[in-house]
Amino acid sequence: MTIVEHKWSALPVPYAVEVADRVPKQRYYDADFYQMEAELLWPRVWQMACRLEEISQPGDFAEYQILDQSVIVARTEELGVRAFHSACRHRGVRVAQGRGSALGGFVCPFHGWCYGPDGRNTKVTQARAFSENNLQPADLDLTPVRCETWGGCAWINLDDGAPPLRQCIEPFATMFDAWKAESLRAEWWYACRLPVNWKLAQEAFFEQYHVLQTHPQLRIPGRSPTRNPADFDPRVFVEAELHYLRMMSEGMDGMVHARDVQIAEGLADVELPADYQLARSTWERTLNDAVSRAHRERGCDVPDLNQLQDQGFNQPMGYCFPHYFILPMYSSASSYRFRPLGPEETLMEIWSLTRFPEGGEYEPPPVPEMWECDDPRWPPIAIQDFSNLPKQQRGLHARGFEYMRLSERNEGQISNYHRVIDGFLAGLPYQQLMAVLPKINVNPLEMPIVEIGF
Ligand code: FES
Ligand SMILES: [Fe+2]
Repeated sequence: MTIVEHKWSALPVPYAVEVADRVPKQRYYDADFYQMEAELLWPRVWQMACRLEEISQPGDFAEYQILDQSVIVARTEELGVRAFHSACRHRGVRVAQGRGSALGGFVCPFHGWCYGPDGRNTKVTQARAFSENNLQPADLDLTPVRCETWGGCAWINLDDGAPPLRQCIEPFATMFDAWKAESLRAEWWYACRLPVNWKLAQEAFFEQYHVLQTHPQLRIPGRSPTRNPADFDPRVFVEAELHYLRMMSEGMDGMVHARDVQIAEGLADVELPADYQLARSTWERTLNDAVSRAHRERGCDVPDLNQLQDQGFNQPMGYCFPHYFILPMYSSASSYRFRPLGPEETLMEIWSLTRFPEGGEYEPPPVPEMWECDDPRWPPIAIQDFSNLPKQQRGLHARGFEYMRLSERNEGQISNYHRVIDGFLAGLPYQQLMAVLPKINVNPLEMPIVEIGF
């Protein structure tokens, strides 16, 4: 990655990020800026609309809402996964809400017009009362929305002119194909209402700089090199690693899956070299092998984690612009999605993903109720991350605060994706935007500021 040399941008966007390491505060609450995002960003990007296990049977549908748009994603008998606007072609009534099965089709609750699970109009009640003009068959189906699947999810794009999904989400897609993201299933799914802007919410997870202060329980002695190499004790190191894995597992209720913690505990007696770096790499490789083997023996589709490591794909996090993350740890992962509910309100969802034996029984988690961010049911690491956010949103309004000052080295991704947002708000053509997306659809942790090119 090259550190940015040209720090000035001149895009005609209000509150644009003009100096790469300074983010103007108004971007997080200004109503006009929010409106620009609603008109120029969200309708042009691929959005993770639902997990495929939510619509595993033909006829199953899931509603995806973004701002004032409601999109139905449905699994059809022959056509795979389809999406369409939830608006009856008669007088606009939403034809479906939430989740369910539409095997018998959708019936508009107002005058009873009917649509198949594929969105095709199947009945106009009292059709003779309408003029020919208003009954053109091509005009009566629910209006389709672009929809593609990848990584165990359905994705939608409201812009018919947008490039295909895969092109827009590289190299994230390649990295998580190698990690077999498509064979993960949700173990639980929670939702949170955060009283902050959607960008502020996701940026809480874009760097590791906050870890020592916000998550003091993750400061575990024994995991780092000793000042004097002769003092290094591999037994202390293994104990510290096991402690860390337990903290991560309990802290996120599964990002490191309890099963993987057990596998690691089974390695507690492993012989490690007396050199820190060698001990760390031997430990990681031994654990990776043990995890891959154990899950394979259970009948799960799991990657060879050491092979991924060698390919550079075994990263702790992947970001998919604009609103989706996967945080993989050994066999399993946490996955996040963020949606704006207002200039200063966000819906954040977390899925805990893991691997289930192929062909075995699986019950998807229920649609979550929306918890407040201080709800005691949140796992402890999430509670800690959420606790800063309302304070930060309030602080941004201070008359004495103008912009966020970012660390060029540790917080670069915050600058990078904000400047891509500015490209969308400036109405740049896809050709220009596509050139920069691969620079930000990566592991955001410790990302430096990069050259965006506009
Ligand atoms: S609005 Fe749907 S049938 Fe009239
Ligand atoms: Fe955190």
